[in-house]
Amino acid sequence: MVELTLPKNSQMTEGKTWPKPEGATNVREFKIYRWSPDDGKNPSVDTFYVDLDDCGPMVLDGLLWIKNKVDSTLTLRRSCREGICGSCAMNIDGTNTLACTKGMQEIEGAVKIYPLPHLPVIKDLVPDLNNFYAQHQSIEPWLKTTTPEPQTEWLQSHEDRVKLDGLYECILCACCSTSCPSYWWNGDRYLGPAVLLQAYRWLIDSRDEATGERLDELEDPFRLYRCHTIMNCAQTCPKGLNPAKAIAEIKKMLVERRV
Ligand code: SF4
Ligand code: SF4
Ligand code: FES
Repeated sequence: MVELTLPKNSQMTEGKTWPKPEGATNVREFKIYRWSPDDGKNPSVDTFYVDLDDCGPMVLDGLLWIKNKVDSTLTLRRSCREGICGSCAMNIDGTNTLACTKGMQEIEGAVKIYPLPHLPVIKDLVPDLNNFYAQHQSIEPWLKTTTPEPQTEWLQSHEDRVKLDGLYECILCACCSTSCPSYWWNGDRYLGPAVLLQAYRWLIDSRDEATGERLDELEDPFRLYRCHTIMNCAQTCPKGLNPAKAIAEIKKMLVERRV
């Protein structure tokens, strides 16, 4: 039998249980992953009680209530609070999603929250997304053209514009990539579903003139072909997008240009 020795700081310790809000009659239990690089302690899960009569309905409302009223050191990212910026992505009740669009009512029992899986943690619910952003940069996510710039804007027919539906809505929250087993094990070389969906978004933009060059960059056993169609990405996307389909379309484009 294989015996594995986990690194010391990968083992969870028992966390703190914070007192219930005084006089509250309608409380919700939150169990939240905590880890700080500053205190030398192992990660833990703290228990909090949120006064629902004093708090909005979304998981993000609960987190901010805790931060404002109980423990100001609780660390998380958020900005728009309406599912647009992608910064509040985390693992809630076992699924990667956005804290600002996930209703507490949708969850049974305690609200369990962890950072996005398989990324280094900076603190508490904040993962290190540097590699993810570098991968996005690597696909050159901007319009590339060789013909001289038009006087006004680059025109696109309605039909061609519709081809971008289901792609342009991606908010780069990383929920899909961090739910993808292939990305967990090969995240340094496999681009992952979010970045590949973006790559496809530029490949099929009728105004872009770098399709061949973009396909050359993707034709690689790791960058593209680590997708094994497991479909976690499509199941978890909080915007209802389907990165697996975009990846399949890229593979099809690569086959088609060979024949
Ligand atoms: S495809 Fe969906 S889950 Fe993936 S980054 Fe874009 S919005 Fe987030
Ligand atoms: S379909 Fe591909 S990208 Fe999506 S989760 Fe599966 S392996 Fe990852
Ligand atoms: S705070 Fe912007 S997507 Fe949740």
